[in-house]
Amino acid sequence: MDDYEVVTSDILIIGAGGAGMRAALAALSNGSSVLMVTKSVLGKAHTVMAEGGIAASVGNVDSKDNWEVHFSDTIVEGVYLSNWRMAEILAKEAPERVFELERFGAVFDRTKEGKIMQRAFGGHTYRRLCHVGDKTGLEIIRTLEDQIIHKDVKVMDEIYITKLFKSGGAFSGALGLSMRDGKFYLFKAKALIISTGGAGRVYKITSNSWESTGDGLGLAYKIGVELQDMEMIQFHPTGMVYPPGVAGLLVTEGVRGEGGVLTNTKGERFMLRYSPEKKELDARDVVARSIYYEIQAGRGTEHGGVYLDISHKGAAFVKNKLPGMYMQFKEFAGVDITKEKMEVGPTVHYQMGGIKVDAETGATNVKGVFSAGEVASGLHGANRLGGNSLADILVFGKRTGEAASSYVKNARSAAPKESEVTKAITEIKAFIKPGAKNAKNPNVLIEQLRENMSNNVGIIRNEEALQKALGVVEELKAQSKSVAVSGTLIYNKGLLACLELGNMLIAAEAIVRSAIMRKESRGAHTRSDYPKKSKEWLKNIICNIDSKGNMSLGTAPLKKMPEELKKLVKPEVYQ
Ligand code: FUM
Repeated sequence: MDDYEVVTSDILIIGAGGAGMRAALAALSNGSSVLMVTKSVLGKAHTVMAEGGIAASVGNVDSKDNWEVHFSDTIVEGVYLSNWRMAEILAKEAPERVFELERFGAVFDRTKEGKIMQRAFGGHTYRRLCHVGDKTGLEIIRTLEDQIIHKDVKVMDEIYITKLFKSGGAFSGALGLSMRDGKFYLFKAKALIISTGGAGRVYKITSNSWESTGDGLGLAYKIGVELQDMEMIQFHPTGMVYPPGVAGLLVTEGVRGEGGVLTNTKGERFMLRYSPEKKELDARDVVARSIYYEIQAGRGTEHGGVYLDISHKGAAFVKNKLPGMYMQFKEFAGVDITKEKMEVGPTVHYQMGGIKVDAETGATNVKGVFSAGEVASGLHGANRLGGNSLADILVFGKRTGEAASSYVKNARSAAPKESEVTKAITEIKAFIKPGAKNAKNPNVLIEQLRENMSNNVGIIRNEEALQKALGVVEELKAQSKSVAVSGTLIYNKGLLACLELGNMLIAAEAIVRSAIMRKESRGAHTRSDYPKKSKEWLKNIICNIDSKGNMSLGTAPLKKMPEELKKLVKPEVYQ
């Protein structure tokens, strides 16, 4: 019999970024026992890459702002694909979550009157982004982490969850490998919250760090959880393009929010052509596409980007408002942004699609499984507004923690079968085969996958490239059956790559198949062969695993928006 330790809690949370932490705090204060596990360490999450601010209509800078306008902006810029109820909840509850964060100890920048400072961001009608310089995500993580430690929430880090179990149709446990000492754990719980972030690492150029390999998506999909709108991948308009070692690293939208201007090599402020009114502060999909077109037209920089300039604001202003950007460019590129232009280009930043959840509770279609944060879908539709992700993790993290906590009060505990657990352990150990003939290197396959996604499933897509991408994904899936590495179970990066590759392939397949299915252009999903948006496609694409283990796709209609909310939104589609 394989050796493993059993750890029991009411609720298991996978992922320890902002959504996971906020959910843990909510569940704990509702009386549940909670265990958080992360493959990284507490707080090391993509949350920190939402730098420029959290969107909440507190109206400190522009007093006309309110939840109705925030709701409308979210629906319009999500190109009408958002779950309207999630958008309504977000717009109404974000201000209170920001004030609560302040009570937890977050230190926001201030207006002269001492109120929380807000800045402009693309697609937001008013200056709505409450911020801490250009380190807002980091401050949120720091604050939540303080609470987690203070409240003694149990956290186990450097644990990779390899499998989820169901008993009688409901979640019953998860198997984890401790990368620190090679020990296996069976985590028994009545409810699971998946808050593992996105799958940005399936692309070559991304702002996401090593953690974002779609683990939650893959784990959930394998036990029958539905995924939704996976084709909707957000390309942030501005990532670093040089030097190569930091290509893709985020250049916050805060730069444009504070007055930064985009130009091409001819010195033209090209956003005047693409978006004469909103210019640099149009929604991310619009700005990213515009930059892409400029580069394609041969007006890109030496390193394949465009210029972003904030130097006209003066050194003191730049260093005060954007200290992180100042340091980042100085240290990594040798560029002084108080005097020189930055070179920037689009970078994969976020997935709007993901696990399909109930708007009120974060519940999925599998009993006992909940989800919140980037890995969950619905709120952002076809394009996320900057700053809405930080609001999302707090608003829906809290709600999901509370809902899971209510659920466990009446749920029965069940245990995975011993044989299932030992089989899952044997499968992991089987990846370690020193000297195996014809073994495939998982890292080589991962690099091929990332190359494929960046080349064929980028900002502008078409049938031919997408079919090519699918062929490569299928080929890599076949090859992934032969991956093997040497070494032991302890801190084995090769073994980790074997495990992550499986989830990355699921995420990539779902992205590509959904992109092939959606025969229109909407938000972040632009197809040169279907350049217009179509009313027929005002629906969600759902991916699920079939009885033979294959990915099957279908569509689901959007829920009808109530009349009183329709009145708040530009009439384009809802009339
Ligand atoms: O540009 C940024 O600071 C990113 C913010 C976000 O993704 O919400």
